[in-house]
Amino acid sequence: MHEQTRSRPARPHTGVTEDGRRRREVLTYSRRGSRLSDRQAEAWERRRDEWFIPEEAADATVFDPAVWFGREAPLIVEVGSGIGEATAALAAERPDHNVLAFEVWRPGVAETFVQLERAGATNVRVISIDAVWSLEHLLGPGSLAGLWTFFPDPWPKQRHHRRRLVTEAFAALAASRLAPEAAWRLATDWAPYAEQMARILDDQPLLESAYDGPAPRWADRPLTRFERRGIRAGRAITDLAYRRR
Ligand SMILES: C[S@@+](CC[C@H](N)C(=O)[O-])C[C@H]1O[C@@H](n2cnc3c(N)ncnc32)[C@H](O)[C@@H]1O
Repeated sequence: MHEQTRSRPARPHTGVTEDGRRRREVLTYSRRGSRLSDRQAEAWERRRDEWFIPEEAADATVFDPAVWFGREAPLIVEVGSGIGEATAALAAERPDHNVLAFEVWRPGVAETFVQLERAGATNVRVISIDAVWSLEHLLGPGSLAGLWTFFPDPWPKQRHHRRRLVTEAFAALAASRLAPEAAWRLATDWAPYAEQMARILDDQPLLESAYDGPAPRWADRPLTRFERRGIRAGRAITDLAYRRR
């Protein structure tokens, strides 16, 4: 549970400043289409009350993830869960954990519900508030039993590099949210981004590499549509794994 000692800033990306000017923001995601397929729309309606955490949850003085899961359990966070293929498979294997998935793309959230139903996983809640803001303002230091970041948007163009999720600042924030010994697992199919991640995470004082040398592919991580596409395009997949000191 994360209780703010000072009032929490307003939820991000409301678009305008208090004096009505358009806010300039650096987002780690792009605003993609919001059209749901029939199957996704049905899953959304079926599960939203149970599995989706509404944005207003961030306005309460206290954000207590356990309330949304209906139970206390070690909390794993996934940033950018996409269509939830990895989320569903990994969560189904960890019924004793609460898995909080951040995804701002509504069709992805709805598709995640489809995947969760198929996998029989009931221990996932999805929230559509910017994960960067949320890690800072909703989740307390040392509160995570694990963190997953699989195939974050690579932002390949030089002028977009500042939109990449894994920066020094985000690494420091994420590391601070992990409990001692908890692991941060990442994967990417974009070699220059993999190098950036390794450099930043190697330099982060709160983290240490979980392996001597390069991390092997995480055996638990399922082969997703996204990863398959990268492999088909001839890109090498890099897994990274770090532990909170
Ligand atoms: C390239 S996709 C990968 C999805 C999934 N992890 C996979 O492996 O298929 C990255 C996802 O992260 C989401 N995302 C990026 N930045 C985010 C943020 N700050 N908060 C929440 N979701 C974010 C995007 O909407 C996008 O769906």
